[in-house]
Amino acid sequence: MNTCVVGLQWGDEGKGKVVDILAENADIVVRYAGGANAGHTVIIGDTKFALHLMPSGSVREKTACVIANGVVVDPGTLIDEINGLKEKNISMTGRLFISENAHMVLDYHKLEDQLREASLGKNKIGTTARGIGPCYADKIGRSYALRMADLRDIDTLKDKLETIVAYKDKLFGALYDAEPIDIDAIYTKCCEHSKVLSPFICNTTQFLHEAIDADKNILFEGAQGALLDLDHGTFPFVTSSNASALGLGAGCGVPTKYLQRAVGVVKAYTTRVGAGPFPSEQDNEIGQLIREKGNEFGTTTGRPRRCGWFDAVAVSYTARLGGITEIAMMHLDTLAGMDELNICKAYKVNGKETTFFPGDAADLDAAECIYETLPGWSEDLTKIENYDDLPENTKNYVDALEKIIGVPISIVGVGPKRSQAIFR
Ligand code: GDP
Ligand code: IMO
Ligand code: MG
Repeated sequence: MNTCVVGLQWGDEGKGKVVDILAENADIVVRYAGGANAGHTVIIGDTKFALHLMPSGSVREKTACVIANGVVVDPGTLIDEINGLKEKNISMTGRLFISENAHMVLDYHKLEDQLREASLGKNKIGTTARGIGPCYADKIGRSYALRMADLRDIDTLKDKLETIVAYKDKLFGALYDAEPIDIDAIYTKCCEHSKVLSPFICNTTQFLHEAIDADKNILFEGAQGALLDLDHGTFPFVTSSNASALGLGAGCGVPTKYLQRAVGVVKAYTTRVGAGPFPSEQDNEIGQLIREKGNEFGTTTGRPRRCGWFDAVAVSYTARLGGITEIAMMHLDTLAGMDELNICKAYKVNGKETTFFPGDAADLDAAECIYETLPGWSEDLTKIENYDDLPENTKNYVDALEKIIGVPISIVGVGPKRSQAIFR
């Protein structure tokens, strides 16, 4: 059984927790998109892991972990994560497989991300400043890109770096009046990264297809959320990869015909970090309450997350995009104590009602939510272990969402820990 887990909102839905839970039955966990812009939290007992590049299966010592070709890898961050796991007595030796074709994020990508955002002022995207956009841009542009395979041949890498840095210096100097890039510092780091990471770099497409032939269970871990997908999200306020399930095939070389199960992760409400449209946003005391109760601060940047009601128009759309077979809904516990809960079930766009998510940015900006209001509940859910024991109003809320989205909700989250998930 091969499964993918993807976010159906604007990221931070709780993918790390869901992947960790499902990884119990997985031989391999694969990251196939995004980079260190992701922040996936796994909490086991009192131990908390915040993973950026490492698949969330890494916390289980028997699980092989693949960082596939679609990921943009910041080698320094990855090494920090390997060391962080080692400090918690978790070894990656022999079970980490990094694609030779994954592109490498270097310091000048992070610099460009920051310079560009600063120059855009109020029009900035609000990126994580992890160099994601500039690295994917180099990948698409081809001529100035470096991949993980380049770490295996450090002399050739030096020649390539000289060409790239000369180009970037001209560009950053002209556009941003930036200081020249310290090429020696970058090369020295590459030499160090080469020593640590070379043993892990391999052909992950071959590894995955051999695993398929051997009937292994593979779990594909999405990063970001479908509304941040470069082609299908809220462009330009998106990330630079195909963050929906549609990115899986290209991101790791495994076609979806090998997938049996597609789990879409959502929160019981909606959050977003960074700029961009958010029709059901509650920039008021309701949003503030959700932020405080749900501890809605970014795992990667610590920024407060924007909060709002559940947007069923958006999730119905992203569930379709992902071929989603079931939904895991996290943070039900966070909604306890609200008198009423609103679900956005349609948009009004320029006087016309629609239940299909608009493709046009101006239409989305103009969209007003049409809500269905349900009674809330006051009970604390965090210690409940059986679905039947949830308050009636909680179950009614889940049923209402399931009906609108048209996909079964099979797992609900009642707290951040591995143990705080209820299978229906
Ligand atoms: P990801 O990027 O999708 O993996 O999600 P993040 O880890 O960035 O953010 C999700 C946050 O919600 C983390 O702090 C989790 O520990 C927390 N979390 C996950 N599921 C639940 C839940 O059911 N209830 C509560 N209260 N917190 C949860
Ligand atoms: P996980 O995997 C939430 C957002 C950024 C910004 C936009 C572009 O933890 O769900 P980027 O740095 O990718 O160029 O930023 O995308 N973003 C995320 N928001 N969760 C994430 O990842 C995100 N990764 C990127 O905040 O709005
Ligand atoms: Mg996150």
